[in-house]
Amino acid sequence: MDFDKVIKKRASIKNYSDKKPKYDKIINAIEAANLAPSPGNIPILHFIIVEDKEKINEIAEACQQPFIKKAPVIVAICSDSKKTNMMYDKRTEKYIKQHAGAAIENFLLKITDMKLASCWVGAFVNMEIKSALKIPENIDIEAILPIAYPSKVDKTNQKPKTNLGNICFFEEYKNKYKKKPIKIGGH
Ligand SMILES: Cc1cc2nc3c(=O)[nH]c(=O)nc-3n(C[C@H](O)[C@H](O)[C@H](O)COP(=O)(O)O)c2cc1C
Repeated sequence: MDFDKVIKKRASIKNYSDKKPKYDKIINAIEAANLAPSPGNIPILHFIIVEDKEKINEIAEACQQPFIKKAPVIVAICSDSKKTNMMYDKRTEKYIKQHAGAAIENFLLKITDMKLASCWVGAFVNMEIKSALKIPENIDIEAILPIAYPSKVDKTNQKPKTNLGNICFFEEYKNKYKKKPIKIGGH
């Protein structure tokens, strides 16, 4: 798919078909996530692929978001801050969140490119997911990402975004006006 089309087509889709995506597609999405920039190129993230129906139900309960139950596969993205802590000290938390965000967006764009559906899920009861997936105490859960085909009736589009005129400034914070370039000489 054309790059701009992928970016515009990505949407938080919650209506899933029962058809299970092939394993190589799941790996392709994780590979895309793993290609995201990371502070000092340190490997920070871990990906848990969950196909077990009971576990998927447990995760949906931990998120209190029933649409997740319909997903045939879920990827839980976790982070291990140990190595980053040693190198970046106070910046660690910010760096890890930024890296996770970059990886998650890569993942979602690849999912879109493969005509699959997903939704970034960040609201969950931490301890319940940790218990379902046996995640140790020192590891953080960054996001839950269902993987599915969209249902035949799904018509989800990306939600409209704010106009660039509201959020883009020039030279100074809040300055919305770009100075016209001054012409020097007669050209
Ligand atoms: C950090 C983060 C957490 C999110 N958590 C949830 C969530 O728990 N459940 C959900 O349905 N969507 C969640 N979303 C998806 C947003 O609601 C969605 O991206 C937003 O409404 C815009 O819609 P779009 O993705 O279709 O453009 C989350 C998105 C982000 C970036």
